[in-house]
Amino acid sequence: MIRIKLVVLRCFKTHFAMKKIQMVDLKGQYEHIKETVNTAIQEILDNTSYINGPQVHAFQKNLEDYLGVKHVIPCANGTDALQIAMMGLGLQPGDEVITADFTFAATVEVIALLQLKPVLVDVELGNMNISIEAIKKAITPKTKAIVPVHLFGRAANMEAIMRVAQEHNLYVIEDNAQAIGANCRFSDGSKKKAGTIGHVGATSFFPSKNLGCYGDGGAIFTNDDALAHTLRGIVNHGMYVRYHHDVVGVNSRLDSIQAAVLNAKLPLLDQYNAARQNAARAYSKAFEGHDNIIAPSICDSCDCHVFHQYTLRIINADRDGLMQHLLDQGIPCAIYYPIPLHSQKAYADARYQEADFPITNQLVKEVLSLPMHTELDAEQIDFITNAVLSYLTK
Ligand SMILES: Cc1ncc(COP(=O)(O)O)c(C=O)c1O
Repeated sequence: MIRIKLVVLRCFKTHFAMKKIQMVDLKGQYEHIKETVNTAIQEILDNTSYINGPQVHAFQKNLEDYLGVKHVIPCANGTDALQIAMMGLGLQPGDEVITADFTFAATVEVIALLQLKPVLVDVELGNMNISIEAIKKAITPKTKAIVPVHLFGRAANMEAIMRVAQEHNLYVIEDNAQAIGANCRFSDGSKKKAGTIGHVGATSFFPSKNLGCYGDGGAIFTNDDALAHTLRGIVNHGMYVRYHHDVVGVNSRLDSIQAAVLNAKLPLLDQYNAARQNAARAYSKAFEGHDNIIAPSICDSCDCHVFHQYTLRIINADRDGLMQHLLDQGIPCAIYYPIPLHSQKAYADARYQEADFPITNQLVKEVLSLPMHTELDAEQIDFITNAVLSYLTK
């Protein structure tokens, strides 16, 4: 009796002493860089260079160097980055743009907003990224662009996508909101950063992203000088010379405070991504061989996945029951994404048949994302994996 009490007490003590588990721990991450960030922000407050300050130009240059891309155009958020990329390429109303059915709505939203025609296609079961076969099937004479999304931090198969695009003379706009720092590997052994391979790439610096600021932020990348010039005008009301508006533009700026935060965090991005990869490795080790869990594949030398999310597939088991069980134990978790885009009212289209989306329809029923951030520790991961396993082996 005394022994049982002691064990219960020890378990309680361990849980009690453990840091609260969060889906994303922005406060914990901030504590490590507090001084640098506070000093940089204070400097901006002191000299009032709120918009287009030197921090923005420094960040642009720093990110160009990090990504190995000729041009970075900072902007206000990731959704704008996608929209401006499509405007810069001169896509016209009615042009068809192929993208994944299984992604965040921002990807398809901007296509529709510009009166282009979104063509949603299925994804692949193994990597949850856009299906190459589905892209090929969806191409028509009206197709002008493909928008692959590097979903959850895993680089899409850019080599195959670029091959299809070249064959059909299509633009490729990479939605890299979730995979900054991931590498795409090519069959000749070379590698390039996700977001820098297509004609243009777009990213988000939303706070929870792998490189997040403390508000909204985004950027567009390209190696094309002429396109970069066009994009720089579009983000600034279509102006190349002050008060001369040559094209219809938007107001989409990264502000100096956000740029200062990003300048503090960019040198740590590889370290942040490595922390995410380590957490993913520990999760996957615990779930290895379990009949009801398909964990994301991890190969040691592979840097093509930077784990914006750690997303399991729960098969032949009660995924929603497991989710509730985790929430009851104070473990946050989430379903990204619960409804396929083709089933959303805003993007419904009579051309879509359920049979065209077997994988997305399967994934929305199976996926479950566990806490993933740079501050997860071994004790928390143990607690989370034990909670998952105890439910599934009940
Ligand atoms: C895949 C994807 N694309 C685009 C965006 C849009 O980014 P933002 O929220 O910065 O507009 C997001 C943000 O969550 C995203 O996950």
